[in-house]
Amino acid sequence: MKHNIAIDGPAGAGKSTIARRLAAELGYVYVDTGAMYRAMAYYFLQNGIDADDEEAVAEAAGKADVSIVYENGEQCVLLNGENVNGMIRREEVGKMASAVSVYPPVRAKLVELQQNLAKKENVIMDGRDIGTVVLPDADVKIYMTASVQVRAKRRFDELQAKGQKCSLSEIEQDISERDYRDMHRETSPLKQAEDALLLDTSDMSIDEVVAKMKQIAEGVV
Ligand code: DC
Repeated sequence: MKHNIAIDGPAGAGKSTIARRLAAELGYVYVDTGAMYRAMAYYFLQNGIDADDEEAVAEAAGKADVSIVYENGEQCVLLNGENVNGMIRREEVGKMASAVSVYPPVRAKLVELQQNLAKKENVIMDGRDIGTVVLPDADVKIYMTASVQVRAKRRFDELQAKGQKCSLSEIEQDISERDYRDMHRETSPLKQAEDALLLDTSDMSIDEVVAKMKQIAEGVV
């Protein structure tokens, strides 16, 4: 049996940074499911699909083949065979991913891919529905969150460090809107699984969160 760790939480809570570090320390494979939704979203953007047109999204989802390979321990998302890691991090793609992830045909395809990965490897998987839907029997479940203000400030600092112009209040508004959509959709909304541990990282450093998660994963907490 494989050992699986599920991490869910809203955008900007630090899930991917922490999960990547923890996976390296524990020797697990890190699976970033948001990147898969982003790859689908990127396909829809490239093909001019309207996020409100459910039929068009469902049809296009059938043509977007998303798969995962690992190069030097890094997850690469392939969209119809092409590595799209460099294309999917833009805000526009994240917004589209949040908008189209409400549709069951999009989710069904990606959930199957995620479950197959977890059968083959010990994984740390992060997303919105991992503990509730994708891996309901995961050995460890964490719901990682932080206040909207803290998450917006982290994102703001990240963009500033890259030299990109941005407004803190706009980022805060975007995050609130994304939270609302991810938490209120009908299919697999973002919520804390009943058996998940809540971890609020608002006042914690990355090192502190990694150390805490390690204790949880090793059954100390
Ligand atoms: O974690 P992220 O920002 O890369 O995710 C982008 C969007 O994809 C997120 O707003 C909602 C969707 N998503 C999802 O519905 N289920 C997941 N397991 C992961 C992401």
